[in-house]
Amino acid sequence: MFLQNFPPMGVYETLFKFQDATGHYMGDVGTKPWAQGFPLTRQLPGGPTLPLSIEFAATELKYPNATGNEPLRKAISKYYNQFYGASITEDNVAVFAGGRPGIFATLLFLQKDVEVVIEETEYTPYFDKLKILGRSHTIVPSNPGNNFRPKISDYNKAVKEKGKKTLLIRSNPCNPTGVTMAGQELQDLVNLSMGDDRGAIIDEAYEFFNASGPVSAMEHIRNIDDTNLFIIGAATKGLQVPGMRTGWVIASKKYVEIFRNFSSIAMGGVSRPAQVYVANLLEIERVKQARNAVVNFYNDQRKAYQEGLASCGIELCTGEGGFYHWGKLPNGLTAEAFNKRLFKHKAAILPGTLCDMHRRGDSGPHGNFIRFSFGPIEPDSYGENIRIIKECLRG
Ligand SMILES: Cc1ncc(COP(=O)(O)O)c(C=O)c1O
Repeated sequence: MFLQNFPPMGVYETLFKFQDATGHYMGDVGTKPWAQGFPLTRQLPGGPTLPLSIEFAATELKYPNATGNEPLRKAISKYYNQFYGASITEDNVAVFAGGRPGIFATLLFLQKDVEVVIEETEYTPYFDKLKILGRSHTIVPSNPGNNFRPKISDYNKAVKEKGKKTLLIRSNPCNPTGVTMAGQELQDLVNLSMGDDRGAIIDEAYEFFNASGPVSAMEHIRNIDDTNLFIIGAATKGLQVPGMRTGWVIASKKYVEIFRNFSSIAMGGVSRPAQVYVANLLEIERVKQARNAVVNFYNDQRKAYQEGLASCGIELCTGEGGFYHWGKLPNGLTAEAFNKRLFKHKAAILPGTLCDMHRRGDSGPHGNFIRFSFGPIEPDSYGENIRIIKECLRG
């Protein structure tokens, strides 16, 4: 064996188990992909169309720029300046093949003396990334004891306790809990991450998915060049095109240069046609319409499933954002056992244990928790979905 073994990221682990049990790939027609984190890839009510073809010149068949092509980087910077009053340029934008590689590259180049600070309940692959990179980390409590809603004072405590350089990492809205920091709280999180010894990765993959409207830390950052802040965005969720594999990191110019160098060694840039496609999606009037449509459509879905899942006896702790419900199964049922029952209906949820940044398994506080995704499901499947969940909870 020449290569070091490494297991798949948790969501994929569930996909592979599902495939073994059902013979289907989750997400295929006829399956119920409640474990998966993708949005509907069709036009939403009141939303713009999603083009099914693009035109590009022969020049787009050349190698892309290592940092991302200028029209896309310009469209991204214009977007943040327009909607969040930011004052960035394309030199603050590095384009990656999705959000995950941007997060990975940031952690990869993190200086050895920086301590990572992360919530106890977070996006599954953060755990894998920290493990593979051998990064020690300090945990901020996020569990049933605080209803998965850590306060800024908890962050303050974790940062101060370390008494050294710290980098916070937080998905906002949080995957899996949907808890969203906005307004003064988000401003406080940004303030806490300012200064030479402080920094943060704020992962805004679900930026559009917030009950009161899209949310970004960019609204609270005056001059990103003076910070160690890394704001992650992607076309994956809000723009509804996970297949385009396009994401970005907004950061100080000096860090964007490092990402350029990383790309020149390890990525070779991102598909030019994908960049052309995504730049078109960011046209200001179009994206305004998309933001509104996503908020309205997914608010309805969040509310409908909040009522539906609660009526099944699932105790929900979901916040105001994201496209997941986060809750506790009744009668001590574990998420693993629940999934075995769901597989018979070609359905699956994500076991909460995969969001436990301590990975304590069923004996930890996440054993009976599930993440139910309403991102990829059509509203007309609601009745049948709730019926299956009720049946599987009965036994
Ligand atoms: C919290 C969070 N960050 C980032 C991503 C980025 O995903 P991708 O690499 O598919 O763009 C996801 C997707 O599931 C996510 O849930």
